[in-house]
Amino acid sequence: MKIITTFSLLLCFSAMVFAEPSSLVAYDKETRALIRSGSVENGKKLASSAKCKRCHGMDGLSEDDDDPNIAGMSATYIFKQLKDYKDEKRPERSMVKAVRDLSDQDLSDLSAYYATQEMLPAAHATDTVPILVHKGDPRRMVRACNSCHGQNGEGGEYDMPALNGQRPGYFVTAMEEFREDDRSNDIYWRMRDIAKELTDEEIEELASYYSAAPLEEDED
Ligand code: HEC
Ligand code: HEC
Repeated sequence: MKIITTFSLLLCFSAMVFAEPSSLVAYDKETRALIRSGSVENGKKLASSAKCKRCHGMDGLSEDDDDPNIAGMSATYIFKQLKDYKDEKRPERSMVKAVRDLSDQDLSDLSAYYATQEMLPAAHATDTVPILVHKGDPRRMVRACNSCHGQNGEGGEYDMPALNGQRPGYFVTAMEEFREDDRSNDIYWRMRDIAKELTDEEIEELASYYSAAPLEEDED
């Protein structure tokens, strides 16, 4: 009897662990209205006073290869990330701290503001377009990157971010974190499943293709 109870308790516990959602954001009517209501003007003030500009710049372009560029990403993507940090679904310390005391309306305003900034172009610094960009690899069940990230890497709907113009160092780290399950806020494992199939060389090549040119200080 005791063994059975312990066993069922264990089962319950593991079900709880597995049932934990990767994100609490759903693009329901209420959330879409909140994102649409974002005030660019107020977002601009917050970007300065909430110290976002220290790491992401007022224009959404960072000066460190490890800090992401967020200029011109969609408000729907930025909002989800900020909410995920606030809910600690993407538990990176400096960002969790940065959004802890902000309201959901503040997050919406910040998303609206940074979405209006201009992203950098993709460097396309590879000899040829990597095969995974437009074709994917059906053998490994890896879909083409651009089938989700926009025909030209400019970003897709809702939670699918632009890849163009990202900092290459951040791009590589993001892929490694998905691969190791250190970043697990992607709904339905869409990025974790893909990242686990890719080699280091492929990730480096994709980073060179999509990212902005490296910052001057990082060049050899
Ligand atoms: C101390 C530096 C720092 C500050 C201050 C900061 N950020 Fe960040 N931000 C980062 C780093 C580093 C990451 C990547 C963290 C990770 O790997 O999850 C990040 C990630 C993000 C992302 C996700 C980008 C992506 O491509 O997924 C958004 C959006 C963002 N920050 C917006 C903001 C906003 C808005 C503020 C102000 C409220 C802010 N950040 C304050 C350093 C900072
Ligand atoms: C099935 C759709 C899908 C495909 C295919 C896909 N991605 Fe993604 N990707 C996503 C989603 C969704 C996210 C954002 C997850 C989240 O944080 O909510 C993402 C996030 C990313 C990020 C992190 C961006 C950032 O700013 O933090 C990178 C880098 C990335 N993808 C690269 C790729 C590459 C390279 C490929 C092709 C090998 C690819 N993706 C294929 C859906 C996809």
